[in-house]
Amino acid sequence: SAAEKGGYDYFMLKEIAEQPKAVADTLLGRIDLAGNLCLDEVRIPASVLREVSKVVIVACGTAYHAGMIAKYAIEHWTRIPCETELASEFRYRDPILDQRTLVIAISQSGETMDTLMALRHAREQGAKVLAICNTNGSTIPRESDAVLYTHAGPEVAVASTKAFLTQLVACYLVALYLGQVRGTKWGDEILSVIRELSEIATQVEEVLETMEPVRELARTLADKNTVLFLGRHVGYPVALEGALKLKELAYMHAEGFAAGELKHGPIALIEQDVPVVVVVPSPRGRSVLHDKIVSNIQEIRARGARTIVIAERGDETVAPYADHLIEIPATPTLLQPLVATVPLQVFACELATARGNEVDQPRNLAKSVTVE
Ligand code: G6P
Repeated sequence: SAAEKGGYDYFMLKEIAEQPKAVADTLLGRIDLAGNLCLDEVRIPASVLREVSKVVIVACGTAYHAGMIAKYAIEHWTRIPCETELASEFRYRDPILDQRTLVIAISQSGETMDTLMALRHAREQGAKVLAICNTNGSTIPRESDAVLYTHAGPEVAVASTKAFLTQLVACYLVALYLGQVRGTKWGDEILSVIRELSEIATQVEEVLETMEPVRELARTLADKNTVLFLGRHVGYPVALEGALKLKELAYMHAEGFAAGELKHGPIALIEQDVPVVVVVPSPRGRSVLHDKIVSNIQEIRARGARTIVIAERGDETVAPYADHLIEIPATPTLLQPLVATVPLQVFACELATARGNEVDQPRNLAKSVTVE
């Protein structure tokens, strides 16, 4: 009913709008007054976490994209090798796991069969399993050694939005916590990122307030056949997520690529007027990433692409090459997915609506895939 949707036309719109609160709720009670993380609820003793020699993340769909981003964060802040794998691929290749492996299973529903089977396999091999989950008491957290709930509240729309953002926050918390208990050389950076995380809800709110041009743009693209997405570093999984949203909701051909792979194939797809969404990292920080992507944008534009550029506010070097510029607030590089994904959700939702699709219940899809 309309009341359940809180006055929005679709649950998805309501859930997109709820993201600032959802993100704040994921952080609630998990940072102490001194700015340190307190994750005592993760009942894996610090002594065990200090001995972890490898992290393996397993998940499906949108949760897998959160896991891909988590890999960058975990390796950077903890220096523990980390791999992220599709749960459906994981156990069939006889993965190498032992008592010092920490497996992180990410799932909104806590009922995805492939993710459940992956974690069962991991535990049989002696690995410790930490679930990142949104649904209290569901199967995946019940069968794990520990759980960090995302507290996003119920997500009804099949296409995941607020669950994704909160999975990211939970992954950052785990990464920072591992860094904190292991005392890596990034101690100061960890403290400053924890502070920046507290600002994220406000920044997501700012993004939501500036989405009208994104909706207008989406409506003009309703008759396109294909949309491409490019990103680098953590912007790469964001590109994959943007493409997934468009497939799920608009039933359009959409693909995400690592920008560095352009010349190895994808650039052959560029022709006059193909929309290409590019996620641009901050020009501050790791500016080498930024410069490379700016030249990628020039390359595809020279071949006729219509460039839709998501860039940090005030990024003047990229603006001349953007046919459409979507500005997002400045964040540390690793946190950018929290603000960069939001315009892609809005874009896909509006495009689907313009094409007359059922936003909350896309054809052929289920909210939770409980069969293999
Ligand atoms: C389905 C949903 C996706 C979700 C995926 C994983 O495909 O439609 O939105 O990302 O399952 O679900 P989970 O509940 O494990 O996060």
